Amino acid sequence: MDSQNRQWRLVRRPEGLLRVEDVELTPGDEDRRPLQPGQVRVRNLLFLYAPTMRNWMSARSDSLHEIIPLGSPVKTLAAGRIVESLDPRYPVGSRITAMSCWSEYDIIDTVSAPQIIADGISAVEALGPFGLNSLTAYFGLMRIGRPCPGDVLVVSGAAGSTGSVAAQIGRIQGCRVIGIAGGAEKCAWLRDQCRLDDVIDYRSQDVSSALRALCPTGVDIFFDNVGGDVLQAAVDNMAKFGRIVLCGQIAGYNDQDVIPAFTNMMRVIYGSVRLQGFLFGDYKSAVPEALADIIPWIRSGAIVARQDIRVGFENLPLHFNALFDGTNQGTLLGLIDEDAHALH
Ligand SMILES: NC(=O)c1ccc[n+]([C@@H]2O[C@H](COP(=O)([O-])OP(=O)(O)OC[C@H]3O[C@@H](n4cnc5c(N)ncnc54)[C@H](OP(=O)(O)O)[C@@H]3O)[C@@H](O)[C@H]2O)c1
Repeated sequence: MDSQNRQWRLVRRPEGLLRVEDVELTPGDEDRRPLQPGQVRVRNLLFLYAPTMRNWMSARSDSLHEIIPLGSPVKTLAAGRIVESLDPRYPVGSRITAMSCWSEYDIIDTVSAPQIIADGISAVEALGPFGLNSLTAYFGLMRIGRPCPGDVLVVSGAAGSTGSVAAQIGRIQGCRVIGIAGGAEKCAWLRDQCRLDDVIDYRSQDVSSALRALCPTGVDIFFDNVGGDVLQAAVDNMAKFGRIVLCGQIAGYNDQDVIPAFTNMMRVIYGSVRLQGFLFGDYKSAVPEALADIIPWIRSGAIVARQDIRVGFENLPLHFNALFDGTNQGTLLGLIDEDAHALH
């Protein structure tokens, strides 16, 4: 094992976008602490950038989630290789995904049930197309949206990691799918590669009037990753008995204040619209069943997924805001160094 370990710690609560001064690269002690029974030591290879990490960095009064204490390491889902183990179910050399610090090495308690990455699946696949975001898309759409052939499905954040998979699962289920995304390149990708029926570029189009024009009978399912004005536009255009799948509110994650809801609740009542929020973790026990669908869809090309891999442990904070300025092209991943490619 390398004698060095480094960690990125949160040293200041960000105001707006994360700034490099909000985090500090420090030596970590995880490579030296002896393991306790039920623990493994991992060499992290790849980190998933998740928008909700920005929520964990805030100390909003409405926080319902874990808040990273100042001085503590930033956390996310990571893929790593076990270099030492005091749990026979997790042998040295196996690869796992687990909640981990932004650190080169970390100690993971196996009681948290880290997932062993099966042979034949790369770390990029485990955090990307077969990972948390695709599973979130699957459960949100299938369990909450409950698509039927012919339904009009609208997805916001449609060119992103979660949204693009939700939109394509909807297409496979026989929905007419409209994606909302920012910019011409993402819209072209959704139309040409993901084979969506229509797209709305929220940066250059008025979303509410575009939805009115594209969905004269209303929206049956709205899968929302964004919140704010986009959610409002969808609420104003829902069909009778429509379903709104509340997956994320990325438009508000950098705000200091409580994220506002939409107006006109009477539309929801008169439209008999169902709104439901959810977390991926609500469906953890159903992951094998979901992967039995997702893996063949990806491998056969029925669903196209793209990954945006940024390299360099020391660059981890620099790339975080790509999630918020929209410069990420698919699942945003941080690879620890170029050599880690060999360990996929
Ligand atoms: N409920 C759950 O368990 C769960 C699990 C995973 C993810 N999520 C949620 O799913 C959403 C997507 O996450 P992801 O990891 O898949 O990220 P992603 O969609 O790959 O990347 C984020 C995208 O959001 C869009 N965006 C950012 N700020 C925006 C704004 N102000 N208005 C409109 N669009 C904006 C950008 O796309 P454009 O270029 O198109 O603007 C950006 O590329 C997030 O809200 C996340 O919190 C929820």
